[in-house]
Amino acid sequence: MDRVVSGIRPTGYLHLGNYFGALRNFIKMQEENECFFFIADYHSLTTHPTPQDLHTNVKNILVEYIAAGLDPEKATIYVQSDVPQVCELSLLLSMNVYVGELQRVASFKEKVRRQPDNVNAGLLTYPVLMAADILLHRADKVPVGKDQEQHLELTRDFAQRFNRIYKNEYFKLPVAYNFGSELVKIPGLDGSTKMSKSDNENSCIYLADSPEVIRKKVMKAVSDSGPAAPGEPKSQAVENLFQLMRAVSSPDTVQYFEDQYQSCSIRYGDMKKQLAADIIAFNSPVFERIQELRSMDDYISKVARQGAEKARESAERTIRDIRSIIGIKQF
Ligand code: TRP
Repeated sequence: MDRVVSGIRPTGYLHLGNYFGALRNFIKMQEENECFFFIADYHSLTTHPTPQDLHTNVKNILVEYIAAGLDPEKATIYVQSDVPQVCELSLLLSMNVYVGELQRVASFKEKVRRQPDNVNAGLLTYPVLMAADILLHRADKVPVGKDQEQHLELTRDFAQRFNRIYKNEYFKLPVAYNFGSELVKIPGLDGSTKMSKSDNENSCIYLADSPEVIRKKVMKAVSDSGPAAPGEPKSQAVENLFQLMRAVSSPDTVQYFEDQYQSCSIRYGDMKKQLAADIIAFNSPVFERIQELRSMDDYISKVARQGAEKARESAERTIRDIRSIIGIKQF
């Protein structure tokens, strides 16, 4: 069984893009792998959330992960800060990480460009903490999107460096797990090609959105003035509506509107009504489960505690081994 590690920063609600991008695949992965799905609350501190927001966001992800189908009996679902061993591993790794190589990381350079007044040390060492998350459980596979590939490459560099310096093979070199064709890219409702809350709140459909909210957002989605001649290529915004429809509607429904588009008789209002209804139907089991779980504080805390315990067991083993390899010995 392969070990899989994946973290998510708690910065708000999960949306359909998250669901189709990773979450749906996690649900399958947990059946055949030893999975560690954690909430990277330490990492999210680089953006200085308020204590209230931090806690709420962590709880939301826990609730939404479980509502979507992650099973705490199958996967280890935990909060990063419940396993502080990761800090020790991060510190130990950092001794063989060079400031220069961290300064050259694309995500760091982008932060420097975009928020020059908050270039904190946590941003610089972000990839070291992420490597520690992964190596703490000696992962074989890490499901990552494009934006995280460089971080995973660094993880392999740090692992390999550690092995070389201490002349052993302790760390396996984790590989990126690409969902490939199973990855369904979900566009935004605002004409952008990727559903992302950083661009525009209204371009996102959250798993926690009520039917009324979903209907409103979809009806307000960007479209265009309609095809003027048969065979005219679709604008990005309209292609997005079709793409969303392909994700949630039946093939017949998609074909129906495709034909309407091709014959220039399409009415976007009708299409959006159908799309909203299909998104609502698709999402309703998850939506309802979210509502239930939100008031089940005892259950949520039990899941978090149980996950933390399992994760700590794995973490303690690694820390014990690493200390001994480095020469940290108890008197
Ligand atoms: N950096 C990841 C992100 O922003 C989150 C993350 C933290 C992560 N630690 C991880 C992902 C370990 C995979 C493995 O999306």
